[in-house]
Amino acid sequence: MNEKLQEINNAAQAAVAAISGATGIKELEDIRVEVFGKKGTLTALMKAMGGLSADERPVFGQASNAARMEVEAALNARLAELKAAEMTKRLADEALDITIPGQKPIRGGRHPMTIVTEDLCKIFMGMGFEIAEGPEVETAYHSFTALNISETHPARSEQDTFYFNENHEFLLRTCTSPVQVRVMEERKPPIRIICPGKVYRSDNVDATHSPVFHQMEGLVVDKGITFGDLKGALTVFARELFGEETVVRFRPHYFPFTEPSGEMDVQCFACQGIGCRVCKGDGWVELLGCGMVHPNVLKMCGIDPDVYSGYAFGMGLERVAMARFGVNDLRVFFENDVRFLGQFA
Ligand code: DAH
Repeated sequence: MNEKLQEINNAAQAAVAAISGATGIKELEDIRVEVFGKKGTLTALMKAMGGLSADERPVFGQASNAARMEVEAALNARLAELKAAEMTKRLADEALDITIPGQKPIRGGRHPMTIVTEDLCKIFMGMGFEIAEGPEVETAYHSFTALNISETHPARSEQDTFYFNENHEFLLRTCTSPVQVRVMEERKPPIRIICPGKVYRSDNVDATHSPVFHQMEGLVVDKGITFGDLKGALTVFARELFGEETVVRFRPHYFPFTEPSGEMDVQCFACQGIGCRVCKGDGWVELLGCGMVHPNVLKMCGIDPDVYSGYAFGMGLERVAMARFGVNDLRVFFENDVRFLGQFA
């Protein structure tokens, strides 16, 4: 019996020694299994209780209980120590110096052409216009024929137009007007659309020319549309864009696809019409071309000109952006120099 008690004591002391030497939580768990597991050292000794006499049992039971409690207490104490040490180490490892200045991310922004396009869209959408789109690769039919542009018109020449093939069937659209045709072919009046987009011309790059630039087209077709509607809508547009005091004028002009046709100028917003660098001394800045949709165009698109009438307009968006941002060279819009673009972020 004394021998058994001694064994229990020895096993408990060995366990406590192992526990105090354990350096990790996993190691501690292994010790727990070695001692208290199914085949653990104390478990095995405690099983031996079966072979004892009724007198011996309570003494042995008490001793083994005490041993178990001692080992468990040692396990829990060591576990708490190791956990605390682990936390201290993690805190040290993951220490964050919040006094180090942060790295500012570079903030992107909208391109000035995007800003202008979105602003114009907002103005026209406020007047009930929808946004329409068309392909940049166009047919000669949609670009010229359906717009009442004769076979011999210089607009068709290779000097102005990028063609894809010898027979001049496909081309890069030179203006957004073909979208008018596509919209009228597809749906019937009432139509009230604008179409912003890229256009292409065989021009050399200089301060006011680029082989690719942006335009916005507008088209309204319904019963009883007059030149008065055109003037009203475009005057409101100019005032929304450049301010309530903006003065506009309409000059007669010629376009094959409108009759009568005109151009709308705004009185120079930089000098109020006195004459300055922005308006080249003229007092006026040309903003857009416009007119009443030619009956031939309506007819070719399947709309009866005796029932319906409409107006159209087209403007270059780089020109609007240059006026709006006081830029005198449109190349800056294409060069993608972040020192320029960053100013709009
Ligand atoms: N297509 C013309 C151009 O590129 C712009 C234009 C003028 C469009 C008058 C129109 C318009 O719809 O009515 O120069």
